Amino acid sequence: MEDRVAGAAVVAESASKLFLEGAVVAFQGLTLTVPRHDVMCIVGPSGCGKTTLLRCVAGLTELTNGHLLVYGKPVNGPPEGVAMVFQQFGLLPWKTVYDNAAFGLAMAGTPTTTIRERVAHYLDLVGLVGFERHYPYQLSGGMQQRVGLARALALNPHVLLMDEPFAALDAQTREVLQEELLRIMARPDERKTMLFITHSIDEALLLGDRIAVLSARPGRVRELIEVPFGRPREPAAVRADRRYATLREHIWDQLRPEVALAGREALKA
Ligand SMILES: Nc1ncnc2c1ncn2[C@@H]1O[C@H](COP(=O)(O)OP(=O)(O)O)[C@@H](O)[C@H]1O
Ligand SMILES: [Mg+2]
Repeated sequence: MEDRVAGAAVVAESASKLFLEGAVVAFQGLTLTVPRHDVMCIVGPSGCGKTTLLRCVAGLTELTNGHLLVYGKPVNGPPEGVAMVFQQFGLLPWKTVYDNAAFGLAMAGTPTTTIRERVAHYLDLVGLVGFERHYPYQLSGGMQQRVGLARALALNPHVLLMDEPFAALDAQTREVLQEELLRIMARPDERKTMLFITHSIDEALLLGDRIAVLSARPGRVRELIEVPFGRPREPAAVRADRRYATLREHIWDQLRPEVALAGREALKA
């Protein structure tokens, strides 16, 4: 394991997570290495433990067995430098855009002047200047997730955990936010490691440096795919690349039997 740990941002080694005294095995024997500054997209059928894995990396719950390291340190409570973006945005409805974006920093006891600077910078970066005093209910889903992104980025995390962040958005808003994220990721000052869960193979190919295809529950890595497209990336150029369709089909061939299996398991339950 030593070779892989050196320089990696996140390492899971034979990791398992069981619930209900073993009645539910979310994932088992899961081994995955995420190099620093890599974007690792994770695809896999519903219920294969993707969210649980991110929660373990975030230190919100513990592995049952195996090892999990973030920047070389075993996870034991929320590690420093890890931030999360949620599918349902996770905004506090009674707080303004500004206060939501500032929330993580405020919780960390950051001085007000620093908060002001950082929040202004990141609200600008995600295109929310002028909306600081709005409340979440006054915003579209896409704008709410921009707040979620600003809140996470403002913490300047080494590792950004994204749990289907665009899944609740309509198709066009989703494309716009994918492009925005690519633009932000291309900035040298915003390079970070990302674990990005998605059900969309297209999204994984567009955003990822690697794609981990997980099996049905209990989840393990069925295949690890290197995404050959360089950065900075243009969505149109990626989709026009002749390797795109081949990879897309290959990943779907890997995923299809797992999704079918997960569906049958769900019917039994
Ligand atoms: N706190 C919990 N208690 C019991 N079972 C859980 C808990 N959290 C998740 N599970 C179960 O673990 C499995 C994996 O869940 P999850 O990580 O949410 O999957 P995914 O995100 O891949 O859809 C599911 O069967 C789910 O019902
Ligand atoms: Mg999930």
